[in-house]
Amino acid sequence: MAGRKHWPRFGSFFAFLLVLLLCNRIVNAKEEDEDNGKDRVMKRCIDCRKLAVSFEIGLDLTNRKGYGGGDVVWEEKKLGKYENSEMRLLDITEKTCKRKDFQCNTMLENYEDEIEKWFFKLRQDETDFAEWFCEKTLKVCCPFNTFGPDCQACPGNGEFSCSQHGKCHGNGTRSGNGSCICETGYSGSVCENCTTGYVQKGSECNDINECEANACDVSLENCENTEGSFICTCKEGFQKEGDVCVPAEPTEGTESSTDDSAATNAVEEEKAAEVDSHEEL
Ligand SMILES: *[C@@H]1O[C@H](CO)[C@@H](O)[C@H](O)[C@H]1NC(C)=O
Ligand SMILES: *[C@@H]1O[C@H](CO)[C@@H](O)[C@H](O)[C@H]1NC(C)=O
Ligand SMILES: *[C@@H]1O[C@H](CO)[C@@H](O)[C@H](O)[C@H]1NC(C)=O
Repeated sequence: MAGRKHWPRFGSFFAFLLVLLLCNRIVNAKEEDEDNGKDRVMKRCIDCRKLAVSFEIGLDLTNRKGYGGGDVVWEEKKLGKYENSEMRLLDITEKTCKRKDFQCNTMLENYEDEIEKWFFKLRQDETDFAEWFCEKTLKVCCPFNTFGPDCQACPGNGEFSCSQHGKCHGNGTRSGNGSCICETGYSGSVCENCTTGYVQKGSECNDINECEANACDVSLENCENTEGSFICTCKEGFQKEGDVCVPAEPTEGTESSTDDSAATNAVEEEKAAEVDSHEEL
């Protein structure tokens, strides 16, 4: 009887667990989907720009074709014709994608007509193929210094976004959140400030050479400047004891050490090792 009474409770506990698990699964799946979605959006832009760069190289290469040697006038005439020919476009598009690059080939096929239109009609006005193709036509990318689905401006001011000392997350794509990822030494929402260990000089943050300001005890320590910090190490003949350098213990054998002092030494050596490996700020 008692067991029967317990069953429903047990059952509801189980159901509760199951619901918890399911909710967790659903939330996780949703987050993953969102992340994958963002990745895919970003990847489409990257793929497009890659294609565009390759296409532009093709344009460049076929531009010079035919020059040099021979009858210059005749060559130029021939090139003039070639320049706006279906043959040139074919020469370019044939080499735009690697044979096994599925994304590239699909994109190229799907937008064959658009590319042809650009090549024969729009080329004079829309001189930047990548911009025309990826930003304006496919709309899979944003202009540089903008980000996200609606091409929002990156923090800061146009080409001075992130104070030119950081990367805008999603820069030039339809993805990202636009936050500035600052170079070392810089901080703040638009990388406008210097982190500790750096000093502002105009618009630059320069590493402070703490050693020049005698950050270490020069009578006992060597100072080594590092990016954003410095390290003090004991001079020869000295060893770390706590925070300070003290004359090194006489070498083994000269002192008859008892078990007790050996134990103390071991502890102190451990402490010293800890201090040595810790960078002071
Ligand atoms: C965005 O990308 C362009 C091109 O690579 C670069 O010149 C620019 O500095 C970048 N801007 C930011 C804020 O990341
Ligand atoms: C923006 O995205 C980056 C990279 O995923 C992340 O580190 C950062 O915390 C995000 N910032 C905000 C404000 O969401
Ligand atoms: C950046 O510096 C300004 C002025 O020095 C200060 O008011 C602001 O709080 C700083 N911002 C951050 C994020 O440290």
